[in-house]
Amino acid sequence: MANCKFFAPLMIMMVMAVDLAQAQSTCSKSFSSSNRLFSSCQTLKQLSSNFAWSYDPENGTIKMAFTAKPDTSAGWVSWGINPAGTGMVGTRSLIAFKHSNGTMVVTTYNITTKKTAPKPSAIDYKVEDMAAEFSGGQITIYATWTLMNNKTSIYHVWQTGPTVSGMVPGVHTFNTDNLASLGSIDLSTGVATASSGSPRTFLKNRHGVLNVVGWSIMLPIGVIIARYMRAVESADPLWFYLHVFCQISGFAIGVAGWATGLKLGSSSKGIVYRQHRNIGIAVFAIATAQMFALLVRPNKENKYRKYWNIYHHSVGYTIVVLSIVNIFKGFDMLQPEHKWKRAYIGVLIGLGGVAVFLEIISWIAFFVKKSSTSSKRNGV
Ligand SMILES: *[C@@H]1O[C@H](CO)[C@@H](O)[C@H](O)[C@H]1NC(C)=O
Repeated sequence: MANCKFFAPLMIMMVMAVDLAQAQSTCSKSFSSSNRLFSSCQTLKQLSSNFAWSYDPENGTIKMAFTAKPDTSAGWVSWGINPAGTGMVGTRSLIAFKHSNGTMVVTTYNITTKKTAPKPSAIDYKVEDMAAEFSGGQITIYATWTLMNNKTSIYHVWQTGPTVSGMVPGVHTFNTDNLASLGSIDLSTGVATASSGSPRTFLKNRHGVLNVVGWSIMLPIGVIIARYMRAVESADPLWFYLHVFCQISGFAIGVAGWATGLKLGSSSKGIVYRQHRNIGIAVFAIATAQMFALLVRPNKENKYRKYWNIYHHSVGYTIVVLSIVNIFKGFDMLQPEHKWKRAYIGVLIGLGGVAVFLEIISWIAFFVKKSSTSSKRNGV
C-alpha cells in the first residue's frame, strides 16, 4: 500500500517539473512584416498555430493575430469565437486565403452547419481592421474584435483547410488536430485550456488517464511488490495482499479505461486505429484470463505449481509490456500536450529505477545470506 501511495505524489511532482520547464513559451507576439506587436501570445497545440492578442479593457476589444499553415498554398486558415461554446457549429469566424486573383482575402463567416461549406456572411461581433498576409507558407489573420458584454473568457475555434473555390472554403480534413482545435481562453489573464470544451476531449483524457494508471502504473507496482517483497520473510503474507490489491484495482481501473476506449472507437466514424484497438483488446483478454487463472492455482506443494508460476509470471510481464506499447501508440494518436508523455516516461523511468535498485538489493541480500550460512557451516 505504501508503495502505491508513494507514486501518486511522485507523478504529480514530475508533471509539475515538466510544466515548469515548459513555461518558457515559444509563441510569437511581434510581427515585423506588418510592424505589429501584441501583449500576449499562446502556441495553440493543434495545427501548430500561433495566437497573439492585446486586450483593451476600456473598449472591451481585442486586437488579435492568428497564424497557421494552410494545408496547401491554395488552402485557407480560420479563427473565430463560438459564443455558445459548442464546437464548430455556431462559430463566428474569420477565414483567410489567397484568392484565385492573387490577392489575400479575409472575410467573416457565420458557421451554421457542418454539412455544407460556408459562404461569406455577417457575424454577430463587430470586427474591424481585418487583414491577412501570406509569408513563409503561413497565413496570418489580423483583426480587432469587440467582445460581447466585455466577456474576456472566450471559446475559440481554429482550423485549416486544403482548397478554396471562389469565396467558399473547401471542407477540412478530419485528423485528430482538425477535430480538437478549439478551447477556452481567458484573454485578460492568458490562461488557456486548449480543447477543454469538447466532451470527446474529456472522454479521451479520461481514457488516457485510466489506462495509464491502471495498466501501466498499478500493475507494474504490483509486479514489483510480488517480485521483491516476497523475498523478505517478515513481509509474508503482506506482500501477497498488496500484490492482489494492486493487480485487482489496476485491472478494474484499466477495464474502465478500456471501456472508454471502446466508446471513443465506436463514436469516431471513419477513423480506425486498428493496431491500438487490437492491442487493447488483446491486453484486456489476456488480463481477464490472468484473473481466472487464479481460480485454478495449484497449492504450494503441488508439483504443477512451478508451471503455473511460470505461466502467471510470463503472462503478467506480457500484459505490462503490451500496455506500455499501447500507451505510446495512444500518445501518438491523441497527441496530448508533450508534458503528459514526458511525465509518463518519467514514471516509467521511476518504476524501472525502483525495480533495478530492488534487484540489486535482493542480490546483495542473497549473497550476504549465502556467505553467512557458509561461514556458520565452517564454524566461523
Ligand atoms: C449566425 O448563425 C446563428 C446560428 O448558428 C444565428 O443564430 C445568428 O443569428 C447568425 N448571425 C448572423 C449575424 O446572421
